[in-house]
Amino acid sequence: MKKNIIDMRGLIMVEKSYFGALDDGTEIDLYKITNKSGAYVKLQTLGAGIQSLYVPDKNGVLSDVVLGFDNPQDYTDPDHGYQGLVVGRWANRIRDAKFTFNGEEYHTPINQGRWTLHSGGRFSFTPWEVEETGDDYVVFKRFSPDLEDGFGGNFTMRVKYTFTEDNTLRLEYMIMSDKDTVANPTNHSYFNLSGNDDEIIDSHYLMINADYFTETDDDQLPTGELGELKGTMMDFSTMHKIGEHINEPFRAVIDGVGYDNNYCLRKKDFTMQQAAVLEHRGSGRRLEVYTDLPGIQLYCGGWLDKNYTAGKGTNVVKYRRGAALETQFYPDTVNHQDVFPARFVKANEEFKTVTEFRFSVID
Ligand code: BGC
Repeated sequence: MKKNIIDMRGLIMVEKSYFGALDDGTEIDLYKITNKSGAYVKLQTLGAGIQSLYVPDKNGVLSDVVLGFDNPQDYTDPDHGYQGLVVGRWANRIRDAKFTFNGEEYHTPINQGRWTLHSGGRFSFTPWEVEETGDDYVVFKRFSPDLEDGFGGNFTMRVKYTFTEDNTLRLEYMIMSDKDTVANPTNHSYFNLSGNDDEIIDSHYLMINADYFTETDDDQLPTGELGELKGTMMDFSTMHKIGEHINEPFRAVIDGVGYDNNYCLRKKDFTMQQAAVLEHRGSGRRLEVYTDLPGIQLYCGGWLDKNYTAGKGTNVVKYRRGAALETQFYPDTVNHQDVFPARFVKANEEFKTVTEFRFSVID
């Protein structure tokens, strides 16, 4: 591993710095990728996460558009919502913490109710190795031995982040396993495009390219049915304010929490397509999410505490301050393999999935 990387070619550069230490002394580093316009992303070794992301508003003013913390230890509390972290091996929920794959039964950690959420969090709350850096990219790597947290296969996951000249943050997830297995990687950033510490997510406009969502039971676990969005408070097929209907009662939404649901993207294959568009009209910042995955979880931070005070300075992580747009296979696909669109990892073949966060400005 290179120790200190400053590559000035074309003015794009990746810089490494020390972020801080976890309570157990583990050191966490930051890798900053800056593009020619001065926009930049800071990635951290903890959970291969996005720690900050500064992009311009309509006047060229850079602001941080993701929530997070100044202290790495704060990221490791699951109640803080996996801010910016990569989730593996399987994002979102697994009913009854078990599934059968290729005839074998696998048991995953029970870390909520009777189910698994985000595979117990190990991929998010441990440091990753940095395998490679280039002018505008960083590759993180984590090895997970066979049956770690109950998942099959000696499994290596790489996440390559590239930050381009036109303010696109590209995430390529690359997985190798010595056995056929399952994978559902995502990134759990919460976006707030306002650049204003007092603003919550309700003020943002959102569009999601979806006509259906995965129906859930009272524990937010998929039933296997798809529900139609049209005419419901969950419908974002036309762009409107997140706050417009967030408090309306609906069978798939928990009162007081608001959106925390999987949208089934309007696509028939695993090609890159636009999944969602988030806009903050005051600042003019716009985010388009592209992915080759079939689903996206819209989570508006409704489980976060209203009284949290930790964050990045006065940019605090708390209830409804950000929207997570988690590209994913539908939650619990491992228990609905014949019904939900699926792709699995084949032994000794690279499994790859790509998501892009494309930033621009509107007038
Ligand atoms: C889940 C939420 C959860 C959050 C943080 C989201 O993917 O859907 O229910 O609170 O992650 O763990």
